[in-house]
Amino acid sequence: MAQSTQNKQWLTNQDGVGSIHRGESTIPQPGEKEVLVKIHTVSLNYRDTEVCDGGYNHHKSVDAEKKAIVPGSDMCGTVVKAGPGAALKEGQRVLSIFLQTHQTGQVQESDMASGVGLPLEGVLQEYRVFPDNALVTVPDYMSDEEAATLPIAGVTAFMAMNWMQPIGKPITNPETTVLFQGTGGVSIMGLQMAKACGLKAIVTSSSDEKLEKARQLGADYTINYKKFPNWSEKAMEFTKGKGVDIILECGGAQTVRQSFDSIAFGGLISSIGYLSGKQDTESDALNINVLALRRNVTLKGHLNGPKDRFEEMLQLYAQEQIHPVVDKVFSFDGTKDAMQYLAKGGHFGKVVIKIA
Ligand SMILES: NC(=O)c1ccc[n+]([C@@H]2O[C@H](COP(=O)([O-])OP(=O)(O)OC[C@H]3O[C@@H](n4cnc5c(N)ncnc54)[C@H](OP(=O)(O)O)[C@@H]3O)[C@@H](O)[C@H]2O)c1
Repeated sequence: MAQSTQNKQWLTNQDGVGSIHRGESTIPQPGEKEVLVKIHTVSLNYRDTEVCDGGYNHHKSVDAEKKAIVPGSDMCGTVVKAGPGAALKEGQRVLSIFLQTHQTGQVQESDMASGVGLPLEGVLQEYRVFPDNALVTVPDYMSDEEAATLPIAGVTAFMAMNWMQPIGKPITNPETTVLFQGTGGVSIMGLQMAKACGLKAIVTSSSDEKLEKARQLGADYTINYKKFPNWSEKAMEFTKGKGVDIILECGGAQTVRQSFDSIAFGGLISSIGYLSGKQDTESDALNINVLALRRNVTLKGHLNGPKDRFEEMLQLYAQEQIHPVVDKVFSFDGTKDAMQYLAKGGHFGKVVIKIA
């Protein structure tokens, strides 16, 4: 059990990454069916920088009231105290799940109220209490740094490829081609899983150096989207005119048109992010209806994934002994630098903070 009663935290008033500040609270105590977790590592997501900037406001159901909050959603830690009736025991190594009430099936709007790191308090702190069903256990072979990367980026990438698959049967058809936009957390997690499942992978990036790293991870084809803004032509070339079966659409405004021009007939565009912006410029404007219709496309918005699919994904990681790509590990004191590093987009894979 903890020696000190103080819980060191980072806080944001949602007024800018540069303004995050340190605070302290008393270590909370677990109630019935809750556990107290000592947090070892936290991985950052693009979302965390948005929360700190006050810009995470595109989900109507998230209360955008600008209150001080501990940011951060993804953590790996150890249960140090179990409340009465808790299903987890002291000493178990665990990972947070992003939407705590999303246990199975399609996400519901009401699940948004259980988001860790807005609207609920986040994980950039030494201790946090969790409901016992809002955590998953960690495969032994993974380090704390690697494991912390999985909840948001990993689960989202897994769902983007497998949401239509029955549980326990991820896609393994070697004729399936998946396209990953950029080399951030979601894309690199997706690339590793796709290659472990024997799929073909295309990766786009603004950097030739990062594309070389992607090839080392098994990418079959790479495209520099700065050099080839019409990268759909390259994707069609690689797939011999068929098009890409699944696209992890992380770019948004400036990429979605290229996605519709790269997709195979009957393909899936998994709508995940908006790295190139949330607003169309005039030249980006689309008639989504006709674009979806002309190639019989499924356009599916994703919001992370349920706990049971997270556990399914962990089985795949363990079976294939996948080690998530950690770009850089920062200290707890260096959290502001870590956030700024992530916001600049120079990373490949995930950025992690070591708390303890
Ligand atoms: N819906 C969900 O549940 C969910 C879950 C996780 C993330 N997201 C969203 O998905 C997006 C990706 O998240 P992340 O955590 O992977 O972000 P990240 O790690 O911050 O990704 C940064 C990378 O994105 C790439 N990028 C930037 N602009 C791009 C563009 N125009 N085209 C292609 N790539 C571009 C860059 O790669 P290069 O340097 O290689 O060019 C950059 O390094 C974000 O918008 C995030 O909010 C949504």
